[in-house]
Formats: sequence, C-alpha cells, structure tokens
Amino acid sequence: MSIGVFDSGVGGLTVHRALVNRLPQADFIYLADQANAPYGGRPGEEIVDLTRAGCERLFDAGASVVILACNTASAIALRRLQQTWLPGYRKALGRPVNVLGIIVPTIEAATGLPWEHEAERRGEKVEQLDVLGVFSTPGTTASRVYEIEIDKRRQDVAVFSEPCPNLARMIEADAGAVELATEVERHVQQLKTRIGRYPDRAILGCTHYEIVADMFRAALPAGTPMIQQPQATADALELYFQRHPELNPGTGGGRTFLTTGAPGPQNGLVESFWGGPLRFEAA
Ligand code: DGL
Repeated sequence: MSIGVFDSGVGGLTVHRALVNRLPQADFIYLADQANAPYGGRPGEEIVDLTRAGCERLFDAGASVVILACNTASAIALRRLQQTWLPGYRKALGRPVNVLGIIVPTIEAATGLPWEHEAERRGEKVEQLDVLGVFSTPGTTASRVYEIEIDKRRQDVAVFSEPCPNLARMIEADAGAVELATEVERHVQQLKTRIGRYPDRAILGCTHYEIVADMFRAALPAGTPMIQQPQATADALELYFQRHPELNPGTGGGRTFLTTGAPGPQNGLVESFWGGPLRFEAA
C-alpha cells in the first residue's frame, strides 16, 4: 500500500516533499495530470471528473489514501467525491481507502496562529484587523473556500483573495524568472490596492506558487508571515494515520512519479526547486 499525491501538475511536489520528510518510510506515488493542467480556469464539473480519474489511477496503483495536493481540486471536487463517489467506489474496491484535501489543514494552521495585532495610537491601544491575503487560481478564488471556512472559525480575520489566472501555467511552462517575478509583483500590488494596504499574513493557496515562494516573499513587505501549506498538510496527515491504522501507507520508502502528460525530465524551474533531476513516467 502507499500514499497517493495528486495535482494537475508539478505544484503538488511542494506538498509531496513535506509529506516525504514527515513519513520517510511510507511508499509514495505522485500523479501529475499534466495532460489537463492547468485546472484553475476549468469548469467545476471538469475538475470533479479529472480529480476522480486521478484518484482512481492512484488507487489502482495501490494507494490507500490520496492527498489532493491541489487547492483547486480540494476546493471544488473533494466534498463531491467524498459524498457521491467514494462510498460506492470503496465498496467495489473491497478495501479501506480515503481522499483528503489540503485546505482544511491550511485553514487550521492559519486560524490557530495569533491574530491580534495591537498598535499604539495617540497613547491608546488600538486593535487592528488581521488581514489575510490568499493567492490562488480563479477556480479556488471563485469557490470562496478560504473566506467561508475561515469565517466559520474566526470572524475577526478578514480574508482577501487574489486570483492569479496565469501563474500555474507559467510555472508548468518554465517561464523566465523576470517574467514570473513581474507577474507575482503585479498580483501582490493588485491585492494591496484592493485591501488598501498590504495583508498582514499570506497563504499561497495554489501549490504551484510555493515553487516561486521567494518571489512572493520579495514582493510582500519583509517578514510577512506565510502560512506553510505543505507543513500544515504533513502535520495533519501524520495525525490522520495515527487515527486510522487500517490505512496502510507502506513501509518500503518507494517513490514513483507519474504524469498523464509527456513523460521525461521536468523543467529547470521545477528541478531547481526539487534540488536535482526529476523524471516522470507515463501514467
Ligand atoms: N496546483 C493547483 C492548485 O493548488 C492547481 C493549479 C492549476 O492547475 O491551475 O490549485
């Protein structure tokens, strides 16, 4: 048995890496649906169908749990699949399996942090609102999942989402550093204009953006705290396996990387994030 990690492309590698560091003995199968990436601008029904197909491929390959290492799939497809597809599929498969997303762990990390900022003004203590900026695909932004889920937990955190329609595609296409940094800067400035100031904290709400996290750090005011989605997911998954011993993550330390797109080496941007060569096999 193994842990399946699914994304439209290379973004989920940022989550995969944190999961592998946390559970090094487990067997991992990564699936990038690069034939259909990016997901962020697709209609919801397509995202549901593509995500289901990815999960089936990973369960066929022996996964006991599939992590949707994709905010767009987690926001749009996860609940639908858990409610309408997984129960029957599990029965047909005849073994326990589950599909988990990455947004709830991220929100738990974001809302568990101290949020209250106090400023001195004219000798009085003035409470300031905690403004959280979320950069995500248009699909995730339109779902309003971060706004809705954070509001359920903390009414005192204001969430502003910035859709970045080109960024995941640019990362998949190995766009140049200047082009990428300009795009990131443009979105940070757009968000700033909408809020009226920079956000107090930020979430990179698309796993691809973690690959250019340094560009977001450079575009935001120095030291802006960023919620670490990969680490939050690793924390949650470790606890999940403790609660679910029936779901076996494997013990062989296997690492398999599959793509529905062109097999072979991944682009330079990805390899420099990865720290070395990385080849995907045909799914
Ligand atoms: N990396 C994915 C996410 O976290 C999907 C990006 C895309 O395919 O548009 O949203």
